[in-house]
Amino acid sequence: AAKVTLQRLAEMKAQREPIVMVTAYDYPTARTAERADVDMVLVGDSGAQVVLGHDSTVAVTVDEMLVLAGAVRRGVQTAFVVADLPFGSTEVSDSQAVATAVRFVKEAGADAVKLEGGGEARLSRIRAIADAGIPVVAHVGLTPQTAVALGGLRAQGRTADSAARVVREALAVQDAGASVLVIEAVPADVTAVVLPRLRIPVIGIGAGPADGQVLVMHDLLGITEGRTAAFVKRYGTVGADMVAGVAEYAREVRSGAFPAAEHVYSATEEAVDAARS
Ligand code: KIV
Ligand code: NA
Repeated sequence: AAKVTLQRLAEMKAQREPIVMVTAYDYPTARTAERADVDMVLVGDSGAQVVLGHDSTVAVTVDEMLVLAGAVRRGVQTAFVVADLPFGSTEVSDSQAVATAVRFVKEAGADAVKLEGGGEARLSRIRAIADAGIPVVAHVGLTPQTAVALGGLRAQGRTADSAARVVREALAVQDAGASVLVIEAVPADVTAVVLPRLRIPVIGIGAGPADGQVLVMHDLLGITEGRTAAFVKRYGTVGADMVAGVAEYAREVRSGAFPAAEHVYSATEEAVDAARS
């Protein structure tokens, strides 16, 4: 397949071809996304929780995200790779945001960067990064990096003020130069208001029908332990399969069934004699 570009994503929107996006955090998950023929791969800062075990996204550092993004880049040839700019790496100034975005392109090979929010300072950051020639994916609605300020990890756009804010920010990030918008955890009716007003592709997560959809890979494959958000659909039981495989291995080591004859090397008689002497 040909490499997915911004032009291709725009064409998909124009032709109402749904855009498929999924997260990945390392080489094997990147290979999984690539082999499954998705259009966009997001190196999400959800990796803070999903692969680093933190309880929110705010803890992950730029250096950690660069390791994840580099591994994903090496596993992806055709999909469009987006890297999340973690909390704290864009908040200080436009120049800090540009410097951070440049690192994700130069050091990790990202095709675009994603940053959360659509307030005044965020718009300035989007403009600055886009002006530097780096495609920007914006993210409005539920923005987990600032969830504390939003009153927790909860749906947005369910009250008049909040719905107006989501729509205002969606339009504003496009005007600021974003190439794609992710809209998270808002009522489908609010997304439906946003969609016809935007030229750029809109990727939904817990936001109803849109130009495309994104989910966390470990959620959709059933690797995530415990509860996931209500908007997640499970397409596999990979976590249970992984535990069953390792548990079977453990049983066989303990019983002596592993290793069997076919798992051991043979040696010449001379080699065995030499080993004995
Ligand atoms: O980090 C992430 O996984 C995300 C998606 C949920 C949009 O930002
Ligand atoms: Na994220």
